[in-house]
Amino acid sequence: MPETPALDPDILDKVINLAKRRGFIFQSAEIYGGFRSTYDYGPLGVNMLRNVKNAWWRTMVQMRHDVVGIDAAILGPPAVWAASGHLETFTDPLVDCRKCKERWREDKIDGVCPKCGSTEFTEARAFNLMFKTQAGPVEGEGATAYLRPETAQGMFTNFANVLSSTRKKPPFGIAQVGKSFRNEITPQNFVFRTREFEQMELEFFVPPSEADEWYRYWIDARFSWYQDLGIPAEMLRLHEHAKEDLSHYSKGTTDVEFLYPWGWDELEGIANRGDYDLTQHSTHSGQKLEYFDQAANERYTPYVIEPAAGATRAMMAFLLAAYHEDEVDGETRSVLRLDWRLAPYQVAVLPLSKKPELEGVSADVLARLQPYFMCDYDVTQSIGKRYRRQDEVGTPFCVTVDFDTLEDQSVTVRDRDTTTQVRVKIDDLLTHLRQATNQA
Ligand code: GAP
Repeated sequence: MPETPALDPDILDKVINLAKRRGFIFQSAEIYGGFRSTYDYGPLGVNMLRNVKNAWWRTMVQMRHDVVGIDAAILGPPAVWAASGHLETFTDPLVDCRKCKERWREDKIDGVCPKCGSTEFTEARAFNLMFKTQAGPVEGEGATAYLRPETAQGMFTNFANVLSSTRKKPPFGIAQVGKSFRNEITPQNFVFRTREFEQMELEFFVPPSEADEWYRYWIDARFSWYQDLGIPAEMLRLHEHAKEDLSHYSKGTTDVEFLYPWGWDELEGIANRGDYDLTQHSTHSGQKLEYFDQAANERYTPYVIEPAAGATRAMMAFLLAAYHEDEVDGETRSVLRLDWRLAPYQVAVLPLSKKPELEGVSADVLARLQPYFMCDYDVTQSIGKRYRRQDEVGTPFCVTVDFDTLEDQSVTVRDRDTTTQVRVKIDDLLTHLRQATNQA
């Protein structure tokens, strides 16, 4: 196991502060005092979150022939959650402190109230984490609906639809990215655990005899994914759950853990769910959810291997891993060393001054790049300050248009990480940037 690297003790505060100041993540409903545990993604955050989800979709769907996507409803009837086991078992043990009356998750507090230090609590009771609401204008049990607490069930309830509409056969997967909701008792640590969040889940259906092999395959694939997108190997590790800690559906679960400022914690879980889900939905719905293998003349219920990631949690991990402070020209700068695929802006076009002749060429440069890269355009402040602003939000390339540009039709391309600058002809700029991002 790699040695645990030393962490800047203030890194969480620094990243939260940067996220707010530069428009990545805002507290939701802030002008009304904030709504606990919900966050809004600002102009830069929405770009980055999209990039995280797109990177996942590209790897998990676009680059494979054996995975298809869906986008299922967020609202669901109780029948789905009865079959999945969520109505009965998706609970946390809730206790109240007898002294200060604060409510806690029993398994998170080691018997001591984090607020007042008391050790006197009420008996634990099971608290269901699903958000319950009413569908339609009539109240009552018949109208009860739930916001999904995971995207996974949409894949199981559509198993037969996808099988018949795509003619896929196991091993094959169904992928989905979208919002999930959990009424977490103790949401905490910024967007690590929130009540509304985004997941990226794959349900990979396999012949039972291949389940173990595919479980190992997906553990490796998912572990590599985070490294490929720039998280250093020493900030990631795998943690296999002990049999007694497994969820009700799981035959085996391994977490990809990330080294957060508070220590190692879950980033993604990969589970071997066996035939639990398809069997449950088959029993509850009365519909056959099986696969008939014609070659072997055999009917079976596929096992499911599930890599389940959080998009918002992954974004936080990418931000934490990318945040650095270094020295440039005798000054400390903060820089997000984000992979170009995740950076909110890949290129910033910076005219050296507001002179109309420079702005004209700059607009032309910008228009050439925009179809291929997410670009920022900034004319305010000194060029040094503008470089720092782009470094701080992780823009890999700054393109500066100066007075020489008018003579030599060239621009300066500055690299975020090395701060080196090269002169490139405007006509060659797109090719240069595509090569620099391994796209040419
Ligand atoms: N379908 C299985 C499932 O949902 P999970 O471990 O409960 O498994 C998968 O969730 C991933 O979703 C987690 O590893 C985490 O990245 C993310 N996630 C879960 N609850 C979250 C929350 N309250 N806030 C942010 N992300 C969350």
